[in-house]
Amino acid sequence: YRDNINIAIDGPAGAGKSTVARMVAGRLQYIYVDTGAMYRAVTWFMLNQGISAEDSEKVLQHAQNMVIELKPHENGQMVWLNGEDVTPYIRSQQVSAEVSKYARIEGLRTQLVHLQQQMALEKGVVMDGRDIGTTVLPDAEVKIFMTASVKERALRRFNELSDEGITLEQLEKDIAERDRLDQEREVSPLRCAEDAIILDTTHMDINQVVEAILSYCKT
Ligand code: CDP
Ligand code: CDP
Repeated sequence: YRDNINIAIDGPAGAGKSTVARMVAGRLQYIYVDTGAMYRAVTWFMLNQGISAEDSEKVLQHAQNMVIELKPHENGQMVWLNGEDVTPYIRSQQVSAEVSKYARIEGLRTQLVHLQQQMALEKGVVMDGRDIGTTVLPDAEVKIFMTASVKERALRRFNELSDEGITLEQLEKDIAERDRLDQEREVSPLRCAEDAIILDTTHMDINQVVEAILSYCKT
């Protein structure tokens, strides 16, 4: 495999980005950066403080002083916000439902993109999100745009939930709505970079996807 390259993985919710990115990073002994976790941590904080996404000025005021840290962990990654481990809170249904509303605030994106770019300066990074290949790491050596049908993505999410009491139909609606908000926002929307490799994983299992990506990282 090529030494010290950056790998950008983008795509819609439930496509398998984080699972696969983490495994690819493990195989290459690279650092994995889950940018969605950063947007989720900010969203959790704002909801907790009662700060609405409509009030972007207030969001930015609070975001300015925020300290976000990503720490590697055996099952993925831990997110710390202002010295507190917020990992257990950021995948809740409420955060999932609200995150895209905060993620369209321009100043917040500027701040998080900057932080993400700092994390990738040394190279040897696998980063997943929505705008990695287009905005965060436009020079990444390997860019993957990972998709799957919305039905399959909803099913994948459904299978990992235990008892949050949400139906498959509702999950499919929520995911489709989040895709829409992410694709239609003005600032760095979810879209495939011109030089990205498109990987439709609807009929692929996790290992096949990992091997496919690794095959693009060969010298
Ligand atoms: O894991 P899942 O695909 O559900 O989402 P995520 O990667 O944790 O991202 C959650 C949300 O954060 C997305 O729906 C986007 O609104 C936002 N996000 C973003 O705008 N840009 C990124 N680079 C990553 C996430
Ligand atoms: O990060 P993203 O939202 O794109 O997806 P994820 O959280 O990595 O994957 C969602 C779920 O789909 C996980 O439970 C994976 O194990 C599963 N998955 C799968 O069943 N088949 C794939 N080819 C990829 C992921």
